Amino acid sequence: MVAFNLPTNSRVTQGRTFKAPAGAKRIREFKIYRWSPDDGKPPRTDTYEVDLDACGPMVLDALIKIKNEVDPTLTFRRSCREGICGSCAMNIDGGNTLACLKPIEEVKGAVKINPLPHMPVVKDLVPDLSQVYAQYRSIKPWMQADTPAPPDGERRQSKEERARLDGMWECILCFCCSTACPSYWWNGDRYLGPAVLLAAYRWIADSRDEATGQRLDELEDPFKLYRCHTIMNCTDTCPKGLNPAKAIGAIKQMIIDRQV
Ligand code: SF4
Ligand code: SF4
Ligand code: FES
Repeated sequence: MVAFNLPTNSRVTQGRTFKAPAGAKRIREFKIYRWSPDDGKPPRTDTYEVDLDACGPMVLDALIKIKNEVDPTLTFRRSCREGICGSCAMNIDGGNTLACLKPIEEVKGAVKINPLPHMPVVKDLVPDLSQVYAQYRSIKPWMQADTPAPPDGERRQSKEERARLDGMWECILCFCCSTACPSYWWNGDRYLGPAVLLAAYRWIADSRDEATGQRLDELEDPFKLYRCHTIMNCTDTCPKGLNPAKAIGAIKQMIIDRQV
């Protein structure tokens, strides 16, 4: 997983420290970004000492333990706790990943936890995903076909056609990739970013979809697609092992191929 420097925020102050219970032997510090829109205060980093002998193995286990037993005001998203829903995406130890899939033991020293970088923060570790979901909606992430379905309703694919979707259908829209992409940091209002472009290619590559031409027309834009400079942070950070940069390259190639 790629580790990159978070933009420094000189307004982040040192916050409170919550000590581990007396007698705890295997203590690990968790340094967690805190910010609330309700109190008018600048962001701070709170430090929580957690006894690893009384905690599950993943970073999400520690966050849940802190929230349940120490500080109920700590706010983060999570649901499935097994890498399926994408909601616990955050920046841990300098890299974007899923808290439920990140073993605490993989982190050396204090575990630093921040929200996904370069996104507006709703509260603490919860980023505002409104923009990226609007971009996802814009690529029409559903099958478009004018040809009526066969009488049994099934639009069949060969095994080879179905296999073309491998590496794309697995995306859980966690947005670790988009928020690791420097081009998305600087042009996120107009560049669609790797997660949304991977989703776009998932439908372009689907043999049942009949809107390939319109989809490519929509993407052939200096900002929506061509802000990707193949920096590869997206692919390096994806917690599901997917390769959005390859999908972006495939879209660019299809646009070139239809011009010759
Ligand atoms: S390869 Fe493209 S999408 Fe991926 S991080 Fe680099 S610029 Fe962003
Ligand atoms: S490609 Fe990977 S990092 Fe990006 S949204 Fe999908 S699962 Fe998350
Ligand atoms: S809680 Fe669902 S992916 Fe982590």
